[in-house]
Amino acid sequence: MPVKFYQEANQVPLEMHKVRMVQKLALLPVEERIKRIQEAGNNTFLLQNKDVYLDMLTDSGVNAMSDLQFAATFQADDSYAGSATFLRVKQAIKEVFGTENVLPVHQGRAAENILAETFVTEGKVALMNFHFTTTKAHITRLGGSVEELICPEGLIPQSDNPFKGNIDLQRLRARIDELTPEKVAFVRVESGTNLIGGQPVSLENMLAVTDVCHEKGVISILDASLLQDNIYFMKTREARCKYMDIRDIYHLLADHFDIIYFSARKLGFAKGGIITSQDPKYTRQMMTFIPLYEGFLTYGGIDVRTMEAMAQGLYESLDMEYLSQAPEFIDYLCKELDSYGVPVILPAGGLGCHLNAGAFVPDMPHDKYPAGAVAAALYIAGGIRGMERGTLSEQREPDGTERFAELELLRLAVPRRVFTLSQIKYVADRVKWLWDNRKLIGGLQWVEEPSVLRFFFGRLKEINFWQERLAEKFRKDFGDSL
Ligand code: F0G
Repeated sequence: MPVKFYQEANQVPLEMHKVRMVQKLALLPVEERIKRIQEAGNNTFLLQNKDVYLDMLTDSGVNAMSDLQFAATFQADDSYAGSATFLRVKQAIKEVFGTENVLPVHQGRAAENILAETFVTEGKVALMNFHFTTTKAHITRLGGSVEELICPEGLIPQSDNPFKGNIDLQRLRARIDELTPEKVAFVRVESGTNLIGGQPVSLENMLAVTDVCHEKGVISILDASLLQDNIYFMKTREARCKYMDIRDIYHLLADHFDIIYFSARKLGFAKGGIITSQDPKYTRQMMTFIPLYEGFLTYGGIDVRTMEAMAQGLYESLDMEYLSQAPEFIDYLCKELDSYGVPVILPAGGLGCHLNAGAFVPDMPHDKYPAGAVAAALYIAGGIRGMERGTLSEQREPDGTERFAELELLRLAVPRRVFTLSQIKYVADRVKWLWDNRKLIGGLQWVEEPSVLRFFFGRLKEINFWQERLAEKFRKDFGDSL
Protein backbone atom coordinates (compact mmCIF):
# COMPACT_ATOMS: atom_id res chain seq x y z
CA MET A 1 0.00 0.00 0.00
CA PRO A 2 1.41 3.43 -0.86
CA VAL A 3 2.02 5.62 2.19
CA LYS A 4 -0.39 8.56 2.22
CA PHE A 5 1.01 11.99 3.16
CA TYR A 6 -0.89 14.35 5.48
CA GLN A 7 -0.63 17.23 2.99
CA GLU A 8 -1.58 16.11 -0.48
CA ALA A 9 0.82 18.58 -2.09
CA ASN A 10 3.71 16.80 -0.36
CA GLN A 11 2.80 13.39 -1.76
CA VAL A 12 5.81 11.68 -3.36
CA PRO A 13 6.80 8.05 -3.81
CA LEU A 14 8.33 6.92 -0.52
CA GLU A 15 11.18 4.42 -0.40
CA MET A 16 10.75 1.49 1.98
CA HIS A 17 14.48 1.00 2.34
CA LYS A 18 17.43 3.08 3.47
CA VAL A 19 20.90 3.57 2.03
CA ARG A 20 23.74 1.93 3.95
CA MET A 21 26.55 2.19 1.43
CA VAL A 22 27.28 5.09 -0.89
CA GLN A 23 29.33 5.79 -3.99
CA LYS A 24 30.74 9.27 -4.63
CA LEU A 25 29.53 10.96 -7.80
CA ALA A 26 31.09 13.78 -9.80
CA LEU A 27 29.37 16.40 -11.91
CA LEU A 28 31.82 17.95 -14.37
CA PRO A 29 31.46 21.56 -15.60
CA VAL A 30 29.62 21.91 -18.90
CA GLU A 31 32.88 22.76 -20.75
CA GLU A 32 34.24 19.34 -19.67
CA ARG A 33 30.98 17.56 -20.47
CA ILE A 34 31.02 18.71 -24.08
CA LYS A 35 34.62 17.49 -24.44
CA ARG A 36 33.81 14.11 -22.91
CA ILE A 37 30.79 13.41 -25.12
CA GLN A 38 32.73 14.37 -28.23
CA GLU A 39 35.64 12.14 -27.19
CA ALA A 40 33.06 9.37 -26.76
CA GLY A 41 31.94 9.76 -30.38
CA ASN A 42 28.59 11.11 -29.18
CA ASN A 43 27.80 7.59 -28.05
CA THR A 44 26.77 7.39 -24.40
CA PHE A 45 28.01 3.76 -24.29
CA LEU A 46 31.53 5.10 -24.81
CA LEU A 47 31.48 7.61 -21.92
CA GLN A 48 33.53 6.76 -18.85
CA ASN A 49 31.32 6.35 -15.80
CA LYS A 50 33.62 8.63 -13.77
CA ASP A 51 32.50 11.46 -16.08
CA VAL A 52 28.81 10.75 -15.53
CA TYR A 53 26.74 12.27 -12.73
CA LEU A 54 23.61 10.12 -13.10
CA ASP A 55 24.06 6.89 -14.99
CA MET A 56 20.65 6.23 -16.52
CA LEU A 57 22.05 4.13 -19.36
CA THR A 58 20.40 0.95 -18.17
CA ASP A 59 18.72 -0.89 -15.33
CA SER A 60 20.83 -3.94 -16.14
CA GLY A 61 23.38 -5.13 -13.60
CA VAL A 62 23.30 -1.79 -11.77
CA ASN A 63 20.49 -2.38 -9.29
CA ALA A 64 21.36 -1.92 -5.61
CA MET A 65 21.80 -5.14 -3.68
CA SER A 66 20.14 -5.55 -0.30
CA ASP A 67 21.89 -6.30 3.00
CA LEU A 68 20.53 -9.84 2.78
CA GLN A 69 21.96 -10.29 -0.72
CA PHE A 70 25.41 -9.22 0.45
CA ALA A 71 25.09 -11.54 3.45
CA ALA A 72 24.12 -14.41 1.17
CA THR A 73 27.31 -14.05 -0.89
CA PHE A 74 29.33 -15.25 2.12
CA GLN A 75 27.78 -18.70 2.04
CA ALA A 76 28.80 -19.30 -1.58
CA ASP A 77 29.96 -22.83 -2.22
CA ASP A 78 32.87 -22.59 -4.65
CA SER A 79 32.80 -25.84 -6.59
CA TYR A 80 32.79 -26.56 -10.28
CA ALA A 81 30.14 -29.26 -10.08
CA GLY A 82 27.28 -29.93 -7.69
CA SER A 83 27.66 -26.73 -5.70
CA ALA A 84 25.27 -26.14 -2.81
CA THR A 85 24.86 -22.61 -4.14
CA PHE A 86 23.13 -23.97 -7.23
CA LEU A 87 20.72 -25.90 -5.01
CA ARG A 88 19.83 -22.60 -3.30
CA VAL A 89 19.22 -20.98 -6.71
CA LYS A 90 17.02 -23.92 -7.68
CA GLN A 91 15.12 -23.59 -4.42
CA ALA A 92 14.54 -19.87 -5.05
CA ILE A 93 13.31 -20.57 -8.60
CA LYS A 94 10.99 -23.23 -7.19
CA GLU A 95 9.65 -20.78 -4.66
CA VAL A 96 9.14 -17.93 -7.17
CA PHE A 97 8.14 -19.76 -10.36
CA GLY A 98 7.21 -23.20 -9.00
CA THR A 99 9.46 -24.88 -11.58
CA GLU A 100 12.02 -27.65 -11.01
CA ASN A 101 14.05 -27.57 -14.21
CA VAL A 102 16.69 -24.87 -14.07
CA LEU A 103 19.59 -24.04 -16.39
CA PRO A 104 22.00 -21.28 -15.34
CA VAL A 105 23.50 -18.99 -17.99
CA HIS A 106 25.85 -16.04 -17.67
CA GLN A 107 23.23 -13.42 -18.64
CA GLY A 108 20.01 -12.94 -20.60
CA ARG A 109 21.49 -12.96 -24.09
CA ALA A 110 23.25 -16.23 -23.29
CA ALA A 111 19.81 -17.73 -22.71
CA GLU A 112 18.73 -16.27 -26.05
CA ASN A 113 21.72 -17.83 -27.76
CA ILE A 114 20.79 -21.23 -26.36
CA LEU A 115 17.11 -20.87 -27.23
CA ALA A 116 18.04 -19.82 -30.77
CA GLU A 117 20.53 -22.70 -31.16
CA THR A 118 17.87 -25.15 -30.00
CA PHE A 119 14.81 -23.91 -31.84
CA VAL A 120 15.85 -21.66 -34.76
CA THR A 121 16.98 -22.97 -38.12
CA GLU A 122 17.18 -21.33 -41.56
CA GLY A 123 13.81 -19.94 -42.61
CA LYS A 124 12.06 -20.28 -39.22
CA VAL A 125 10.12 -17.35 -37.85
CA ALA A 126 9.99 -16.23 -34.22
CA LEU A 127 6.76 -14.40 -33.43
CA MET A 128 6.81 -11.91 -30.57
CA ASN A 129 5.20 -8.78 -29.18
CA PHE A 130 8.39 -6.83 -29.88
CA HIS A 131 12.01 -7.67 -30.51
CA PHE A 132 14.92 -6.93 -28.21
CA THR A 133 18.29 -6.15 -29.84
CA THR A 134 20.17 -9.23 -28.60
CA THR A 135 17.18 -11.57 -29.10
CA LYS A 136 16.86 -10.58 -32.73
CA ALA A 137 20.60 -10.73 -33.39
CA HIS A 138 20.74 -14.38 -32.21
CA ILE A 139 17.72 -15.41 -34.26
CA THR A 140 18.85 -13.74 -37.48
CA ARG A 141 22.42 -15.03 -37.03
CA LEU A 142 21.00 -18.54 -37.51
CA GLY A 143 18.96 -17.67 -40.58
CA GLY A 144 15.67 -17.15 -38.75
CA SER A 145 13.58 -14.02 -38.75
CA VAL A 146 11.51 -12.05 -36.27
CA GLU A 147 7.94 -10.84 -36.71
CA GLU A 148 6.40 -8.41 -34.28
CA LEU A 149 2.73 -8.63 -33.37
CA ILE A 150 2.45 -5.76 -30.94
CA CYS A 151 -1.04 -4.32 -30.42
CA PRO A 152 -1.52 -1.07 -32.39
CA GLU A 153 -1.38 1.18 -29.29
CA GLY A 154 2.09 -0.18 -28.53
CA LEU A 155 3.59 2.13 -31.10
CA ILE A 156 1.53 5.19 -30.23
CA PRO A 157 3.72 7.32 -27.94
CA GLN A 158 0.86 8.54 -25.74
CA SER A 159 -2.15 6.38 -25.12
CA ASP A 160 -4.30 5.44 -22.16
CA ASN A 161 -3.97 1.73 -22.83
CA PRO A 162 -2.45 0.37 -19.59
CA PHE A 163 -0.93 -2.67 -21.38
CA LYS A 164 0.69 -1.39 -24.55
CA GLY A 165 2.99 -4.44 -24.63
CA ASN A 166 0.12 -6.82 -25.41
CA ILE A 167 0.25 -9.11 -28.43
CA ASP A 168 -2.45 -8.71 -31.06
CA LEU A 169 -4.11 -12.11 -30.60
CA GLN A 170 -5.95 -12.12 -33.91
CA ARG A 171 -2.75 -11.50 -35.81
CA LEU A 172 -0.99 -14.16 -33.76
CA ARG A 173 -3.56 -16.79 -34.77
CA ALA A 174 -3.53 -15.65 -38.38
CA ARG A 175 0.28 -15.64 -38.68
CA ILE A 176 0.65 -19.12 -37.17
CA ASP A 177 -1.93 -20.41 -39.66
CA GLU A 178 -0.35 -18.63 -42.61
CA LEU A 179 3.17 -19.76 -41.75
CA THR A 180 2.06 -23.21 -40.50
CA PRO A 181 3.13 -24.18 -36.96
CA GLU A 182 6.17 -26.09 -38.29
CA LYS A 183 7.71 -22.86 -39.56
CA VAL A 184 7.26 -21.03 -36.26
CA ALA A 185 10.39 -21.40 -34.12
CA PHE A 186 8.50 -20.17 -31.05
CA VAL A 187 6.25 -17.41 -29.81
CA ARG A 188 8.04 -15.10 -27.40
CA VAL A 189 6.38 -12.69 -25.01
CA GLU A 190 8.67 -10.01 -23.63
CA SER A 191 7.25 -8.65 -20.42
CA GLY A 192 7.65 -5.74 -20.10
CA THR A 193 8.54 -4.65 -23.52
CA ASN A 194 11.94 -2.97 -23.55
CA LEU A 195 12.24 -1.07 -26.82
CA ILE A 196 8.79 0.50 -26.80
CA GLY A 197 9.17 2.11 -23.41
CA GLY A 198 9.05 -0.68 -20.84
CA GLN A 199 5.37 -1.19 -21.58
CA PRO A 200 3.74 -4.07 -19.72
CA VAL A 201 1.73 -7.07 -20.93
CA SER A 202 -1.47 -8.01 -19.11
CA LEU A 203 -1.86 -11.37 -17.42
CA GLU A 204 -4.96 -11.93 -19.52
CA ASN A 205 -3.01 -11.37 -22.74
CA MET A 206 -0.16 -13.64 -21.70
CA LEU A 207 -2.50 -16.48 -20.79
CA ALA A 208 -4.40 -16.03 -24.05
CA VAL A 209 -1.11 -16.20 -26.00
CA THR A 210 -0.18 -19.48 -24.35
CA ASP A 211 -3.67 -20.86 -25.07
CA VAL A 212 -3.21 -20.08 -28.76
CA CYS A 213 0.25 -21.69 -28.71
CA HIS A 214 -1.04 -24.87 -27.04
CA GLU A 215 -3.93 -25.09 -29.45
CA LYS A 216 -1.66 -24.70 -32.48
CA GLY A 217 1.23 -26.77 -31.15
CA VAL A 218 3.79 -23.98 -31.02
CA ILE A 219 6.34 -23.42 -28.21
CA SER A 220 5.65 -20.42 -25.98
CA ILE A 221 8.52 -18.58 -24.32
CA LEU A 222 8.36 -15.82 -21.72
CA ASP A 223 11.24 -13.35 -21.51
CA ALA A 224 10.83 -12.46 -17.86
CA SER A 225 13.76 -10.06 -17.63
CA LEU A 226 11.44 -7.13 -16.89
CA LEU A 227 8.75 -9.19 -15.18
CA GLN A 228 9.24 -7.53 -11.79
CA ASP A 229 8.02 -4.19 -13.15
CA ASN A 230 5.36 -5.98 -15.19
CA ILE A 231 3.97 -7.60 -12.06
CA TYR A 232 3.77 -4.21 -10.38
CA PHE A 233 1.65 -3.01 -13.33
CA MET A 234 -0.55 -6.11 -13.23
CA LYS A 235 -1.17 -5.53 -9.52
CA THR A 236 -1.97 -1.84 -10.00
CA ARG A 237 -3.67 -1.80 -13.43
CA GLU A 238 -5.38 -5.17 -13.92
CA ALA A 239 -8.47 -5.80 -11.83
CA ARG A 240 -8.08 -9.59 -11.65
CA CYS A 241 -4.54 -9.26 -10.25
CA LYS A 242 -5.26 -6.71 -7.53
CA TYR A 243 -5.93 -9.31 -4.84
CA MET A 244 -3.77 -12.08 -6.25
CA ASP A 245 -0.71 -13.11 -4.32
CA ILE A 246 2.40 -12.06 -6.28
CA ARG A 247 3.78 -15.58 -6.06
CA ASP A 248 0.57 -16.95 -7.59
CA ILE A 249 1.06 -14.69 -10.62
CA TYR A 250 4.61 -15.98 -11.19
CA HIS A 251 3.41 -19.56 -10.74
CA LEU A 252 0.48 -19.13 -13.10
CA LEU A 253 2.81 -17.84 -15.80
CA ALA A 254 5.22 -20.72 -15.30
CA ASP A 255 2.33 -23.19 -15.54
CA HIS A 256 1.28 -21.73 -18.88
CA PHE A 257 4.49 -20.89 -20.72
CA ASP A 258 6.61 -23.79 -21.97
CA ILE A 259 9.85 -21.98 -21.19
CA ILE A 260 10.76 -18.94 -19.11
CA TYR A 261 14.12 -17.20 -19.26
CA PHE A 262 15.43 -14.01 -17.75
CA SER A 263 18.40 -11.78 -17.25
CA ALA A 264 19.11 -11.71 -13.51
CA ARG A 265 20.83 -8.39 -14.15
CA LYS A 266 17.25 -7.10 -14.03
CA LEU A 267 14.97 -9.69 -12.39
CA GLY A 268 16.54 -10.51 -9.05
CA PHE A 269 18.72 -7.40 -8.51
CA ALA A 270 21.88 -9.36 -9.33
CA LYS A 271 23.73 -10.66 -12.39
CA GLY A 272 23.55 -13.90 -14.38
CA GLY A 273 20.59 -15.50 -16.09
CA ILE A 274 18.26 -18.49 -15.93
CA ILE A 275 16.23 -20.70 -18.25
CA THR A 276 13.50 -22.68 -16.53
CA SER A 277 10.54 -24.82 -17.47
CA GLN A 278 7.87 -26.94 -15.89
CA ASP A 279 8.41 -29.74 -18.43
CA PRO A 280 11.90 -31.31 -18.33
CA LYS A 281 11.78 -32.12 -22.04
CA TYR A 282 12.69 -28.52 -22.89
CA THR A 283 15.60 -28.26 -20.50
CA ARG A 284 16.86 -31.65 -21.76
CA GLN A 285 16.86 -30.27 -25.31
CA MET A 286 18.88 -27.23 -24.27
CA MET A 287 21.21 -28.60 -21.61
CA THR A 288 23.98 -29.85 -23.89
CA PHE A 289 24.60 -26.26 -24.96
CA ILE A 290 25.22 -25.11 -21.37
CA PRO A 291 28.62 -26.77 -20.85
CA LEU A 292 29.49 -25.82 -24.44
CA TYR A 293 28.84 -22.09 -24.18
CA GLU A 294 28.43 -21.25 -20.49
CA GLY A 295 29.99 -23.62 -17.98
CA PHE A 296 28.97 -26.71 -16.07
CA LEU A 297 25.24 -27.21 -15.42
CA THR A 298 25.50 -26.06 -11.82
CA TYR A 299 27.10 -22.68 -12.47
CA GLY A 300 26.55 -21.78 -16.15
CA GLY A 301 29.32 -19.17 -16.24
CA ILE A 302 28.04 -17.29 -13.18
CA ASP A 303 30.25 -16.62 -10.19
CA VAL A 304 28.89 -18.50 -7.15
CA ARG A 305 28.70 -15.34 -5.01
CA THR A 306 26.56 -13.77 -7.70
CA MET A 307 24.36 -16.86 -7.73
CA GLU A 308 23.77 -16.50 -3.99
CA ALA A 309 22.85 -12.83 -4.52
CA MET A 310 20.50 -13.87 -7.29
CA ALA A 311 18.78 -16.47 -5.11
CA GLN A 312 18.11 -13.92 -2.35
CA GLY A 313 17.15 -11.30 -4.97
CA LEU A 314 14.57 -13.66 -6.41
CA TYR A 315 12.86 -13.88 -3.01
CA GLU A 316 12.89 -10.06 -2.96
CA SER A 317 11.18 -10.04 -6.36
CA LEU A 318 8.07 -11.22 -4.50
CA ASP A 319 8.03 -8.11 -2.29
CA MET A 320 5.75 -5.31 -3.52
CA GLU A 321 7.67 -2.72 -1.49
CA TYR A 322 10.75 -3.50 -3.56
CA LEU A 323 8.87 -4.02 -6.84
CA SER A 324 7.10 -0.68 -6.64
CA GLN A 325 10.07 1.63 -6.05
CA ALA A 326 11.41 2.01 -9.60
CA PRO A 327 8.01 2.13 -11.38
CA GLU A 328 6.84 4.80 -8.91
CA PHE A 329 9.95 6.93 -9.49
CA ILE A 330 9.52 6.50 -13.25
CA ASP A 331 5.89 7.53 -13.00
CA TYR A 332 6.89 10.58 -10.95
CA LEU A 333 9.48 11.62 -13.54
CA CYS A 334 7.12 11.05 -16.48
CA LYS A 335 4.37 13.10 -14.82
CA GLU A 336 6.76 15.96 -13.99
CA LEU A 337 7.90 16.11 -17.61
CA ASP A 338 4.49 15.58 -19.15
CA SER A 339 2.96 18.39 -17.11
CA TYR A 340 5.66 20.72 -18.50
CA GLY A 341 4.80 19.65 -22.05
CA VAL A 342 7.88 17.46 -22.59
CA PRO A 343 6.93 14.51 -24.83
CA VAL A 344 7.35 11.24 -22.91
CA ILE A 345 5.96 7.77 -23.50
CA LEU A 346 2.69 7.38 -21.64
CA PRO A 347 1.47 5.65 -19.67
CA ALA A 348 4.75 5.43 -17.78
CA GLY A 349 6.21 1.94 -18.09
CA GLY A 350 8.93 0.04 -16.28
CA LEU A 351 12.72 0.22 -16.76
CA GLY A 352 12.88 4.00 -17.17
CA CYS A 353 11.32 7.21 -18.37
CA HIS A 354 11.35 7.33 -22.16
CA LEU A 355 11.59 10.71 -23.85
CA ASN A 356 10.00 10.83 -27.25
CA ALA A 357 13.04 12.26 -29.02
CA GLY A 358 11.20 12.27 -32.33
CA ALA A 359 8.83 14.88 -30.92
CA PHE A 360 11.70 16.76 -29.21
CA VAL A 361 13.28 17.54 -32.59
CA PRO A 362 10.39 16.94 -34.98
CA ASP A 363 12.13 18.34 -38.06
CA MET A 364 15.17 16.11 -37.75
CA PRO A 365 15.16 13.13 -40.16
CA HIS A 366 15.82 9.61 -38.81
CA ASP A 367 19.20 9.47 -40.53
CA LYS A 368 20.48 12.38 -38.46
CA TYR A 369 19.69 10.21 -35.42
CA PRO A 370 17.34 12.37 -33.32
CA ALA A 371 17.41 10.07 -30.27
CA GLY A 372 21.21 9.94 -30.33
CA ALA A 373 21.33 13.72 -30.63
CA VAL A 374 19.01 14.23 -27.64
CA ALA A 375 21.10 11.71 -25.66
CA ALA A 376 24.29 13.71 -26.36
CA ALA A 377 22.48 16.98 -25.57
CA LEU A 378 21.23 15.71 -22.20
CA TYR A 379 24.74 14.68 -21.18
CA ILE A 380 25.90 18.21 -22.04
CA ALA A 381 22.92 19.70 -20.17
CA GLY A 382 23.31 17.72 -16.97
CA GLY A 383 25.95 14.99 -16.96
CA ILE A 384 23.07 12.54 -17.33
CA ARG A 385 23.74 9.41 -19.36
CA GLY A 386 20.69 7.98 -21.13
CA MET A 387 20.52 5.39 -23.89
CA GLU A 388 19.49 5.95 -27.49
CA ARG A 389 16.64 3.62 -28.38
CA GLY A 390 15.86 4.64 -31.93
CA THR A 391 17.32 4.32 -35.41
CA LEU A 392 20.91 3.99 -34.15
CA SER A 393 19.86 0.89 -32.20
CA GLU A 394 18.45 -0.74 -35.36
CA GLN A 395 20.41 -2.89 -37.79
CA ARG A 396 20.70 -1.78 -41.41
CA GLU A 397 18.74 -3.90 -43.91
CA PRO A 398 20.77 -6.54 -45.79
CA ASP A 399 20.97 -4.12 -48.78
CA GLY A 400 22.59 -1.45 -46.58
CA THR A 401 19.62 0.92 -46.33
CA GLU A 402 18.70 2.34 -42.95
CA ARG A 403 15.87 0.72 -41.07
CA PHE A 404 14.14 3.67 -39.42
CA ALA A 405 12.98 2.96 -35.89
CA GLU A 406 9.28 2.98 -35.22
CA LEU A 407 9.89 5.20 -32.19
CA GLU A 408 12.87 7.50 -31.64
CA LEU A 409 13.34 7.25 -27.88
CA LEU A 410 15.84 8.42 -25.32
CA ARG A 411 15.61 6.06 -22.39
CA LEU A 412 16.42 7.34 -18.93
CA ALA A 413 16.67 4.13 -16.98
CA VAL A 414 15.88 4.11 -13.27
CA PRO A 415 17.89 1.27 -11.73
CA ARG A 416 16.09 -0.33 -8.83
CA ARG A 417 16.75 1.01 -5.31
CA VAL A 418 19.60 3.27 -6.54
CA PHE A 419 18.63 6.94 -6.96
CA THR A 420 17.11 9.38 -4.50
CA LEU A 421 14.11 11.53 -5.31
CA SER A 422 16.24 14.70 -5.36
CA GLN A 423 18.28 13.16 -8.15
CA ILE A 424 15.12 12.37 -10.08
CA LYS A 425 14.01 15.99 -9.57
CA TYR A 426 17.37 17.17 -10.91
CA VAL A 427 16.81 15.04 -14.05
CA ALA A 428 13.37 16.58 -14.54
CA ASP A 429 14.84 20.05 -14.17
CA ARG A 430 17.63 19.54 -16.71
CA VAL A 431 15.28 17.84 -19.22
CA LYS A 432 12.88 20.80 -18.92
CA TRP A 433 15.76 23.18 -19.65
CA LEU A 434 16.72 21.12 -22.67
CA TRP A 435 13.12 21.11 -23.86
CA ASP A 436 13.03 24.91 -23.67
CA ASN A 437 16.27 25.01 -25.68
CA ARG A 438 15.43 22.19 -28.08
CA LYS A 439 15.85 24.42 -31.13
CA LEU A 440 19.60 24.35 -30.45
CA ILE A 441 19.80 20.55 -30.84
CA GLY A 442 21.23 19.45 -34.19
CA GLY A 443 21.90 16.12 -35.87
CA LEU A 444 24.74 13.57 -35.85
CA GLN A 445 26.69 11.85 -38.61
CA TRP A 446 28.80 8.70 -38.63
CA VAL A 447 32.54 8.72 -38.15
CA GLU A 448 32.83 4.94 -37.61
CA GLU A 449 29.88 2.60 -38.14
CA PRO A 450 30.29 -1.05 -37.11
CA SER A 451 28.20 -3.59 -39.05
CA VAL A 452 26.77 -5.48 -36.05
CA LEU A 453 25.16 -3.95 -32.92
CA ARG A 454 26.53 -0.61 -34.06
CA PHE A 455 25.03 1.33 -31.16
CA PHE A 456 27.51 -0.27 -28.75
CA PHE A 457 30.73 0.85 -30.45
CA GLY A 458 29.83 3.30 -33.23
CA ARG A 459 31.25 6.85 -33.23
CA LEU A 460 29.47 9.93 -34.52
CA LYS A 461 30.05 13.67 -34.70
CA GLU A 462 27.83 16.72 -34.47
CA ILE A 463 26.69 18.48 -37.62
CA ASN A 464 27.38 22.26 -37.57
CA PHE A 465 28.72 22.96 -34.04
CA TRP A 466 25.32 22.87 -32.31
CA GLN A 467 26.86 21.38 -29.16
CA GLU A 468 29.08 24.42 -28.58
CA ARG A 469 26.02 26.68 -28.91
CA LEU A 470 24.10 24.52 -26.43
CA ALA A 471 26.95 24.65 -23.90
CA GLU A 472 27.19 28.44 -24.28
CA LYS A 473 23.47 28.79 -23.62
CA PHE A 474 23.86 26.61 -20.52
CA ARG A 475 26.56 28.92 -19.17
CA LYS A 476 24.38 31.92 -19.87
CA ASP A 477 21.35 30.45 -18.08
CA PHE A 478 23.10 28.73 -15.15
CA GLY A 479 25.94 31.17 -14.42
CA ASP A 480 28.82 29.38 -12.68
CA SER A 481 26.73 26.36 -11.62
CA LEU A 482 27.95 22.87 -12.49
N1 F0G B 1 15.59 -9.38 -22.67
C1 F0G B 1 15.25 -8.15 -22.30
C2 F0G B 1 13.80 -7.77 -22.25
C3 F0G B 1 16.24 -7.23 -21.94
O1 F0G B 1 15.88 -6.01 -21.56
C4 F0G B 1 17.59 -7.63 -21.99
C5 F0G B 1 18.66 -6.69 -21.65
C6 F0G B 1 17.90 -8.93 -22.38
C7 F0G B 1 16.87 -9.78 -22.71
C8 F0G B 1 19.32 -9.40 -22.45
O2 F0G B 1 19.80 -9.61 -21.17
O3 F0G B 1 21.67 -7.96 -20.92
O4 F0G B 1 21.49 -9.94 -19.42
O5 F0G B 1 22.14 -10.22 -21.76
N2 F0G B 1 18.53 -5.45 -21.60
C9 F0G B 1 19.58 -4.51 -21.23
C10 F0G B 1 19.10 -3.09 -21.37
C11 F0G B 1 20.87 -4.75 -21.90
O6 F0G B 1 19.92 -2.20 -21.12
O7 F0G B 1 17.93 -2.85 -21.67
P1 F0G B 1 21.36 -9.41 -20.80
